Amino acid sequence: MALMTLAYVSEARPGLSLRDLKQILRRSRENNYRRGVSGYLVFDGAYFAQILEAEADVLDGLMHVIESDDRHHGLRLLLRAPIAERHFADSCMGCANLAAPVQLDTSELRGLIRDVTGSRQLGLSEALEFFCLFGTFRTPQQAALLTL
Ligand SMILES: Cc1cc2nc3c(=O)[nH]c(=O)nc-3n(C[C@H](O)[C@H](O)[C@H](O)COP(=O)(O)O)c2cc1C
Repeated sequence: MALMTLAYVSEARPGLSLRDLKQILRRSRENNYRRGVSGYLVFDGAYFAQILEAEADVLDGLMHVIESDDRHHGLRLLLRAPIAERHFADSCMGCANLAAPVQLDTSELRGLIRDVTGSRQLGLSEALEFFCLFGTFRTPQQAALLTL
């Protein structure tokens, strides 16, 4: 079976709350653990960016479900590519919440998410760099403050 990765950006439903985000994460972590899906989700208060890794058929099935979720819209695929190994193997869904009320300058990270909501596709290395950055924002302590 072929391991695939996929990344997209989408616009969150207006008024999406922290409670909604936590609910998405809880279901995602339960389901993804069971189905062998790894990845990372970024939320900046307006947009989602998510990278997913799984066997091709699992990934395509999950994308159908995610696409029809009314908690977001305007989903745009940034990347779909075969991979030899997982890059988020230690997480069934890591999450950075840039809308968290913390005393941190997240303008750099917010700028990045605005960049990928532009109209271009990403290469695999570019996508990995983008998502890995959120987990390593300056110091592990700062990254931890954005982690849900
Ligand atoms: C931005 C976003 C990302 C999501 N990511 C995942 C995911 O990685 N895995 C997952 O199972 N569901 C994810 N969901 C939720 C699915 O759309 C769907 O609600 C959920 O899979 C249904 O699970 P259930 O059938 O166990 O209730 C996501 C939803 C949104 C809005």
